[in-house]
Amino acid sequence: MPATLFPVDLSIKPNVTAFFDAATNTISYVVADPASKACAVIDCVMDMDYAAGRITYDHADRMIDFITQQGLTLEWLIETHVHADHLSAAPYIQGKLGGKLGIGEKITVIQDTFGKVFNEGTEFQRDGSQFDQLFADGDSYDIGNLKAFTIYTPGHTPACMVHVIGNAAFVGDTLFMPDGGSARADFPGGDAGVLYDSIQKVLSLPDEMRLFMCHDYGPNGRDIKWETTVGDEKAHNIHIGGGKTRDEFVKFRTERDAQLAMPKLIIPSLQINMRAGKLPPEDDSGKRFLKVPLNGL
Ligand SMILES: [Fe+2]
Repeated sequence: MPATLFPVDLSIKPNVTAFFDAATNTISYVVADPASKACAVIDCVMDMDYAAGRITYDHADRMIDFITQQGLTLEWLIETHVHADHLSAAPYIQGKLGGKLGIGEKITVIQDTFGKVFNEGTEFQRDGSQFDQLFADGDSYDIGNLKAFTIYTPGHTPACMVHVIGNAAFVGDTLFMPDGGSARADFPGGDAGVLYDSIQKVLSLPDEMRLFMCHDYGPNGRDIKWETTVGDEKAHNIHIGGGKTRDEFVKFRTERDAQLAMPKLIIPSLQINMRAGKLPPEDDSGKRFLKVPLNGL
């Protein structure tokens, strides 16, 4: 859908509160309707000490405490995509506060790919049924009186969606801050040219649209930041701003991606996140295990 057809309404101004996770450089958000006190959680994090095989919920508990203290009602838990660098805590938060869990409908492609990589067998459903809602391009939904809509933005992964809520867009890993550039496009199903096209869709939103990042790494030693605008990205993004062409972007992105190491938590993240953040089933002894496919990624 061309961005001009999207139901953009900059007069709708949600309250956005960011929660930075220093262990994975992820920013999670609570997006609230000031009138109805309904809210959504975007890209929450479950803490994992991978070396110890230990999961905890400190980051999620901070978000739960905030939502409770503010008297908000959680209506949605949104995943912008299947993250490869942190684990989702969505089922944990949903268990405490309710709400519906949503992701892009192409989650089925991710589940098919990584169901095979992790040899999950037939009991692992690859139809997205672990989620409550699968979004298609241009779908809209309500957070109280706020209207939200989705933009399908593949390239980093095949299931990426940007969520636009009034004057705020949550870009997932489609873009980083202007001095951070863009996310890698070399995971299975990723494509640098497709990512370029998706970024153009985001940049066709109004210049004043607030953009909220999923990650920031504080390049060149600057403080962590997570908010910019379409206008700022168009002018200054180091990978795509100033009118860089698709060919220039694809060449740069492909060369850069060939040098990047795998994210530290990719193996646990994919196994948890392709299940909507749910843990793998218990074995006969009541224990849960993750797998490490040797030379499988
Ligand atoms: Fe990602």
